[in-house]
Amino acid sequence: MTTLTPILTDRWDTERSWTLASYQAHGGYSALRKGLAQQPAEVLEAVKTSGLRGRGGAGFPTGMKWSFLPAPDGGPRYLVVNADESEPGTCKDIPLMMADPHVLIEGVILTSWAIGCHHAFIYLRGEVVHVYRRLLAAVEEARAAGYLGENVLGSGFDLEITVHAGAGAYICGEETALLDSLEGKRGQPRLKPPFPAVAGLYSRPTVVNNVESIASVPSIVEHGADWFSAMGTEKSTGFGIFSFSGHVTRPGQYEAPLGITLRELIDMAGGIREGHELKFWTPGGSSTPIFTAEHLDVPLDFESVAANGSMLGTRALQIFDETTSVVRAVSRWTDFYAHESCGKCTPCREGTYWLRAVMHRLEAGQGDPGDIDLLVDLCDNILGRAFCALGDGATSPVTSAIQYFREEFEAGMHTPASVLFPPERSAVFDYVPTGDATTVAGVH
Ligand SMILES: Cc1cc2nc3c(=O)[nH]c(=O)nc-3n(C[C@H](O)[C@H](O)[C@H](O)COP(=O)(O)O)c2cc1C
Ligand code: SF4
Repeated sequence: MTTLTPILTDRWDTERSWTLASYQAHGGYSALRKGLAQQPAEVLEAVKTSGLRGRGGAGFPTGMKWSFLPAPDGGPRYLVVNADESEPGTCKDIPLMMADPHVLIEGVILTSWAIGCHHAFIYLRGEVVHVYRRLLAAVEEARAAGYLGENVLGSGFDLEITVHAGAGAYICGEETALLDSLEGKRGQPRLKPPFPAVAGLYSRPTVVNNVESIASVPSIVEHGADWFSAMGTEKSTGFGIFSFSGHVTRPGQYEAPLGITLRELIDMAGGIREGHELKFWTPGGSSTPIFTAEHLDVPLDFESVAANGSMLGTRALQIFDETTSVVRAVSRWTDFYAHESCGKCTPCREGTYWLRAVMHRLEAGQGDPGDIDLLVDLCDNILGRAFCALGDGATSPVTSAIQYFREEFEAGMHTPASVLFPPERSAVFDYVPTGDATTVAGVH
């Protein structure tokens, strides 16, 4: 497999790609006409048989999720698109919405038709004001063209879309925290069950799906389930956006069938930056255990990545070459988790605080002899004991880095990471020192 499959990214380079005129000129909204001519159950069935699995990280089958909604009872049911995108390294939904917002809107309309929803929401992280404006403008364009509002394209189907800008918190990407935030409450995860399908937004049946999942729906309706499942692997069908960042010659978005390998993708991205070699990488963002050069040929599908001890996650390929300190990288990710922990449960609230403290002193070369055991013990007390997956995610970089690069953690007991791996050597932009990691290293 050496070819890319530009489908979602196909229009990104076209003239004013974000406008309705451009989208329609490239076949946009024809899937909607096709879908509205079918029964909602047929659209749902097509998505189910396509094998599309959630692109937000967990990979739950999308059509199956829709079919979990209880039978209509006359009350409202909602679609909520998760556009929070905050995982370190993940950067596919925001460019998608910026370049091609109408494919998401068309997907929202088709999904709403399939599940019987008349009011859909797009929950976007508030910092990306430019994307917020773009989505608002696209919704207005779609409404003016008769794709939204009352009696969509004369079908008798009514639909409104509300674009909501969140206040910017990683936890608000967790689907139940997102729903609380959307309801105007503090964004913290809810106890499950009940699952959103049964009691979601305003306690009504709700489907929550990732941007890329919903944006994949128009092409499935247009070309059929078999077309979609002919790409990818048997259990991880279709295509996905792989986001390259870090020490690669041409970082960016590479849309390819699931099951492609990092080796193939790196070849297409021009290789690791010149004169350097791959040291470690994340297959799907910082919450997914790191991989090394020995995993270059692991097929990037849900099953193969899991069988090799990590997760496909959001296909955020963060690439690090041999100039990078693993301890420093993990320390920055741990800062993130400690900062973003919502504080609801003790294992994560306390555990991420202590992980951060231990990582900082190792980074500063001031680690204690028992620190590796302490890190493993802390992770053991978070993993599987935290209220939501943020806590589990915080442990992944730490435990996987110890597994593959234990000697760098041992070196943290006597030598600062900045001495072993001068940061300016791994910087891809002009290096500006950001202060001293010893600031919290004093916490023992
Ligand atoms: C801390 C945390 C953050 C998350 N952030 C996102 C996010 O930004 N976008 C997203 O689609 N899913 C995110 N998820 C996963 C969602 O809870 C949910 O599984 C997903 O939106 C379902 O959509 P999908 O089935 O289409 O993948 C996050 C989960 C956790 C635990
Ligand atoms: S695991 Fe962390 S983010 Fe999740 S509920 Fe507990 S404290 Fe909050």
